[in-house]
Amino acid sequence: MKALVLSGGSGTRLRPITHTSAKQLVPVGNKPVIDFGLEAIAAAGITDVGIIVGKTGPEIRAHIGDGSQYGINVSFIDQPDPLGLAHAVLTAEPFLGRDDFIMYLGDNLVAGGVTEFVREFEETKPDAQILLARVRDPERFGVAELGDDGNICRLVEKPKEPKSDLALVGVYLFSGNIMDACHAIEPSARGELEITDAIQWLIDQGQTVAQHTITGWWKDTGKLADMLEANRIVLDRYETRLEGEIDAASEIQGRVVLEAGAKIINSTVRGPAAIGANTVIENTFIGPYTSIYHDCVVKNSVIEHSIVLEETSIADVPAMTDSLLGRKVEVAHTETRPERYQLVLGDHSKVGLI
Ligand code: TTP
Repeated sequence: MKALVLSGGSGTRLRPITHTSAKQLVPVGNKPVIDFGLEAIAAAGITDVGIIVGKTGPEIRAHIGDGSQYGINVSFIDQPDPLGLAHAVLTAEPFLGRDDFIMYLGDNLVAGGVTEFVREFEETKPDAQILLARVRDPERFGVAELGDDGNICRLVEKPKEPKSDLALVGVYLFSGNIMDACHAIEPSARGELEITDAIQWLIDQGQTVAQHTITGWWKDTGKLADMLEANRIVLDRYETRLEGEIDAASEIQGRVVLEAGAKIINSTVRGPAAIGANTVIENTFIGPYTSIYHDCVVKNSVIEHSIVLEETSIADVPAMTDSLLGRKVEVAHTETRPERYQLVLGDHSKVGLI
């Protein structure tokens, strides 16, 4: 069995981060999202992994390298335009051939990994097996309707009136037959080759599309609220590990991960929280569910429930919450008189002012 990890896409819902960076590399709990998927694939015993990349390919390649750090062998596959999940499968045809494979969306997190799911597929050998989860807002997802035999009889992409609460999770297992399906379907109204249409094609051909409904959490981190929720979930599972320096005037409360080289000076860090390597926190309160990545400087500020990427500096910000800051961002007070906000924001930036 091979794996196909999708790390292309346009990431419009996570702009402006995705103007310049891959959303699959945004860290949750200070670990890039895609690492969770690659580790889950490796844990399931799959070593032959194709990774679909788009315009953020160079960054993804640099991060993953040859895959040896995860215990996998990686082949990168360029998808010139993000023309849909089924298009990604077609693009990977030279790598996949007619082999069985697991398709994993690189911005998804699935608790408990995929090992059981893979084992079930290998034992029962359906033509495809889909991972489902019960959700409260099925209209946001691809939704599955099950037949009396428990297999899938219909898939509908973002239905206005969902017939079930079973949403497609971003993990699929396919036999080689999916290739025929991807060749047979036409682009949808939004111009993409939809994997739901390809799976529906299999069903219409009388092939078996089994399902596995997961009970643990999963998260598609495609937009800010979901990214923050994934960060909460991941931080909640961390145990305290303090490898950086904490001065006598500082306090660590609750579960906090502090990487080597980090410094906490005259500050309070209230977990769950993660502070990356070589980050300096000074005269600051870091509140629960905050992940500050490596090589950042935070001074005279209050930050909670946020994700801050590497090499960012924040100074004199009295209250920041529910935020996602990219790399090398600078947030500081200006000395303008009279007092005004001075903003330099890229396209699609979002700022909440009081
Ligand atoms: P999506 O989140 O569905 O699509 P997107 O990345 O284009 O984002 P948005 O809807 O915000 O514009 O994609 C799911 C995953 O699959 C994600 O990791 C990106 C990847 N992907 C590809 O690799 N190729 C594609 O053609 C598409 C559509 C997605």
